[in-house]
Amino acid sequence: MRYFGRRAKGAAAEAQDGKVLREDTSVAEPEASLPKHCLNLKIQVYRVLVSKNRKERRKDILKLEGKVAIVTGAGREGKGIGRYVSLALAEEGADIVITDYVIENAEKVVAEVQALGRRAIAVGGNVAVPADADAIVASALNEFGRVDILVNNAGITRDALIVRMSEQEWDAVLSTNLKGTFNCTKAVARTMMKQRSGRIVNVASVMGVIGNVGQANYSASKAGVIALTKTTSRELGSRGINVNAVAPGFIQTAMTEELSENVRNSIAQNIPLNRLGTPEDVARVILFLCSEDSSYVTGQVINVCGGMVM
Ligand SMILES: NC(=O)c1ccc[n+]([C@@H]2O[C@H](COP(=O)([O-])OP(=O)(O)OC[C@H]3O[C@@H](n4cnc5c(N)ncnc54)[C@H](O)[C@@H]3O)[C@@H](O)[C@H]2O)c1
Repeated sequence: MRYFGRRAKGAAAEAQDGKVLREDTSVAEPEASLPKHCLNLKIQVYRVLVSKNRKERRKDILKLEGKVAIVTGAGREGKGIGRYVSLALAEEGADIVITDYVIENAEKVVAEVQALGRRAIAVGGNVAVPADADAIVASALNEFGRVDILVNNAGITRDALIVRMSEQEWDAVLSTNLKGTFNCTKAVARTMMKQRSGRIVNVASVMGVIGNVGQANYSASKAGVIALTKTTSRELGSRGINVNAVAPGFIQTAMTEELSENVRNSIAQNIPLNRLGTPEDVARVILFLCSEDSSYVTGQVINVCGGMVM
């Protein structure tokens, strides 16, 4: 038997039903004693069944089986991007370290990941504090023995026009969004370098590309995340570590729910795809950047914004 795990179970079930011919050499070849036209027909049916069987098995292959991922800011219940990223990675086979400020929130997402049949732990911590970032990575190594993926998702806004923006508002946003990304990347880099493989995905924003009124702190932090992504990808590329960023536009999460319906409608009218994005839209692109499908992609920023920025 050439297949293992899920696929082995599938193959055995098929054999019991007797409906699908298996690919291994024990499958009886069409008998030579049949008339030639029957024999040809039987061979054709055999080939169709084997190729259908192969396609079904290919669908079964999980993209992240055996991988361990840390997702920061993943404890927001409901519509948080981090939660959707965690579930998308878990659905593809990864075990997940869910981290957030509030460990009780992270624990709820852990339960959702476990319901998908994956291992998960919750780790509380503030990514803006270097010791917390180190502790998050240490917990991951302690529990799972490796870290393959880091998604730097934790982020905040403190919006104000620049003339009114306080030093605290500036510092808070830069500390979480930019320094937090630096802290977690630094904490995980040596482990990934030793493994000679890894994926880091930073959640930036289109506001880091085009700027936005009332978001001097936020736009600057996300522009910094983009520059950090490019530099880190250059430093770590030769060790088999890919570092990329996604730059979401307006996504329907708690962050944008503060906007009035009128504002959200008028934003949608100026987006080529005519709608705000969903957390799943962002999670799917992050999943791509965490998988082998993007093995020759590094140092890139992918706008996930319905065409708002191009
Ligand atoms: N929602 C959008 O429209 C949008 C657009 C562009 C970019 N983004 C980015 O996507 C990411 C996720 O956004 P979201 O909308 O899901 O936000 P969210 O507010 O729903 O979730 C952010 C999570 O990060 C956590 N967090 C905040 N500061 C932290 C810290 N210092 N340490 C640890 N955890 C912390 C929060 O507790 C929260 O659970 C952010 O980086 C955000 O800037 C969001």
